[in-house]
Amino acid sequence: MSHSILITGGAGFIGSHVVREFVTKYPDYTIVNLDLLTYAGNLANLTDIENHANYHFVKGDIMDEALIERLFHKYKFTGVVHLAAESHVDRSIKDPLAFLNTNILGTVTLLNAAKKHWDGNFEGKRFYHVSTDEVYGSLGAEGLFLETTSYDPQSPYSASKASSDHFVRAYGNTYGLPFVITNCSNNYGPNQFPEKLLPLFIHNIQEQKTLPVYGDGKYTRDWLYVIDHAKAIDAVYHKGANAETYNIGGFNEWQNIELIKLMCTIMDNKLGRSKGSSEELITYVTDRPGHDRRYAIDASKIKTELGWEPSVTFEQGLELTIGWYLNNEEWLKNVTSGDYLAYYDSQYNN
Ligand code: NAD
Ligand code: DAU
Repeated sequence: MSHSILITGGAGFIGSHVVREFVTKYPDYTIVNLDLLTYAGNLANLTDIENHANYHFVKGDIMDEALIERLFHKYKFTGVVHLAAESHVDRSIKDPLAFLNTNILGTVTLLNAAKKHWDGNFEGKRFYHVSTDEVYGSLGAEGLFLETTSYDPQSPYSASKASSDHFVRAYGNTYGLPFVITNCSNNYGPNQFPEKLLPLFIHNIQEQKTLPVYGDGKYTRDWLYVIDHAKAIDAVYHKGANAETYNIGGFNEWQNIELIKLMCTIMDNKLGRSKGSSEELITYVTDRPGHDRRYAIDASKIKTELGWEPSVTFEQGLELTIGWYLNNEEWLKNVTSGDYLAYYDSQYNN
């Protein structure tokens, strides 16, 4: 059977790496990237593959039923890899409804289209929902998130993602829709919008602006290089068992403040600044409301069952990432205007 895959959110951070992975690795697949190009979507992320014969871009909303209908009709999708979402926790605290709409209604709109077009003929079909470890809530000092950990979302963002995961499972259970879900930890790497910790702080260090550390800075995240996430999605799409969940993580926990100090050291070195000068930019600011203390993934299921594990060490990944932002000032300049400036002012100056 020939593969025709709808990838949603393919102009965003992770989505663009997933689109590149599929378009270049599978030249005989048809890959359709549906993206609304919100503030977080950027076609400049995909210029290297935009002319490939197996790649098609469609600007549109995952909540637009008629458009999704037309696309299913035209491309006869055998699979959906669903990444489109509102993805930033701080924005979800300011505007929860936007997250409910895109992350829940958008997901259900796609599920309805898949259900309608596949119409019980599920052989060779797959709805792949890309989710987050934040659905599991917050860990104490010990323990790891397992696929069996109970859901306990704490922010409007994670509540919307948890709800969308439940809808995907409900469509599998009720209508037999073939699906797979992955819950991944924090990604870092090229093309991430500079509202998230790593690109924001790289940008601020470069510009010698303050580094706003939330609370005591002792919050912990498990970091994964984005291209390793894209490779995990490829592995799960092709080899994952139906109706299963796989956790994806970097086996790589860092307290924010330790990570920030490491970034300062690497950047002082790269920018020829005196040792310790960027650390002086660190400023403790009011904490994020409801801030989850610690996330950490047990990724042994995907490792044992599908043979995936991170290929890039954190040292290599940070080096590649910081190098990429320093070499792509134009990309950064283009995204740090307009909506970004208004957001930055309201998040950090008020
Ligand atoms: P992102 O914010 O960088 O990109 C989201 C993309 O979705 C953008 O291109 C945007 O234009 C598009 N989009 C938003 N609303 C849309 C709509 N209504 N219709 C069509 N397109 C729309 O997000 P990201 O960080 O790349 O995350 C991608 C997915 O991975 C999300 O589902 C997120 O929950 C999940 N995830 C992210 C991380 C992370 O660390 N960034 C970790 C685990 C899971
Ligand atoms: O765990 C996966 C999740 O990781 C994804 O589902 C989300 O889409 C993604 O945004 C990310 O969520 P986080 O909230 O963990 O990422 P963020 O980069 O916003 O923050 C990382 C940590 O750094 C967190 O503890 C908050 C802190 N932080 C963040 C910013 C933006 C600061 O201290 N200061 C800041 O200015």
